[in-house]
Amino acid sequence: MRVLAIESSCDETAAAVLDDGVTIRANVVASQIAVHSPYGGVVPELASRHHLRNIVPVVQQALDEARCSLAQLDGIAVTQGPGLVGALLVGVQLAKALAYVHHLPLIGINHLEGHLCAARLTAAGPPPPERHLALLVSGGHTALFGVERFGVYRLLGTTRDDAAGEAFDKVAKLLGLGYPGGPIIERTAMTGDARAIRLPRPLPRRDALDFSFSGLKTAVANHVRAQGTLSLEQRADLCASFQQAVSDVLVRKTIAAARLQRFDAIVACGGVLANQAIRRALDAAAGERGLALFTPPLALCTDNAAMIAAAGTLRLRAGERHGLDLNPQARLPLCRT
Ligand SMILES: Nc1ncnc2c1ncn2[C@@H]1O[C@H](COP(=O)(O)OP(=O)(O)OP(=O)(O)O)[C@@H](O)[C@H]1O
Ligand SMILES: [Mg+2]
Repeated sequence: MRVLAIESSCDETAAAVLDDGVTIRANVVASQIAVHSPYGGVVPELASRHHLRNIVPVVQQALDEARCSLAQLDGIAVTQGPGLVGALLVGVQLAKALAYVHHLPLIGINHLEGHLCAARLTAAGPPPPERHLALLVSGGHTALFGVERFGVYRLLGTTRDDAAGEAFDKVAKLLGLGYPGGPIIERTAMTGDARAIRLPRPLPRRDALDFSFSGLKTAVANHVRAQGTLSLEQRADLCASFQQAVSDVLVRKTIAAARLQRFDAIVACGGVLANQAIRRALDAAAGERGLALFTPPLALCTDNAAMIAAAGTLRLRAGERHGLDLNPQARLPLCRT
């Protein structure tokens, strides 16, 4: 089964062509980082306008790279939500138009389910088992889900305030490092000492599976205020200490959830999993306890359409379809509980 997927939920215009849910024939991502970085975050109206400008060339490029025509597709998947509604609308409208004109089955996909499916696209090794624990750490979400099988999710814990990616972005902004914060903090932290500054590890109880990152962000802000101007070395120490605090919390909660809910496999995904230090820490903690860890390739941690195609293939294969009344949804929970 060959599926074209379109993703436009935030500030990446993306299209991909996937064969049989695993083989990536094309994966095109047009980032809008340069557009939004002067504002220190995503400006929704600008995002919609740039999606409009980019979406047709991006889809065309994906088809060209995959060396396939629309007539050779078996279906179209598109991100339905959650995300910026004006941004989502651009992808959904094009997906509906292509499905209508070319008589192709259409499926709307939850963006978070897409992130979870990115771990199925690893080049080496077997895919994750059907039943696993999923840690999703992105710009808008930080959550633990119990996955009984594809499509059956149970929310085990979520952030009570900021998402971890949002905390990376806000800390970078208050240090004047630029946007998006994750990659810049990771780079700055490389020369720093992660034990240099004592920062809180919020909600430390091992049986509490919720997260909280706003207190950590405030602790960083208080430190900066108390210190005044930071030298390059002090900035590196602060970034390393902050990254370590986020990493410690993610690792502790994930391992606790696996133990409490009796999972022996973990999928860890979302933009923050592009962070090598966090990947290494999770890998080491899982390895010590005999838990199997599955993470997407680095390029598939942040937003892309290949992950939407992976989820779309599974749903289309199961016979699911959406009609042309498919509408984007700014809020679209993965599960209710
Ligand atoms: N190397 C990194 N280290 C830490 N964080 C990172 C890294 N690379 C990206 N991020 C963070 O990941 C986030 C973007 O991830 P992603 O694209 O999955 O989020 P999103 O799509 O904006 O949010 P959501 O998926 O929740 O709707 C940003 O907050 C960014 O700072
Ligand atoms: Mg995302």
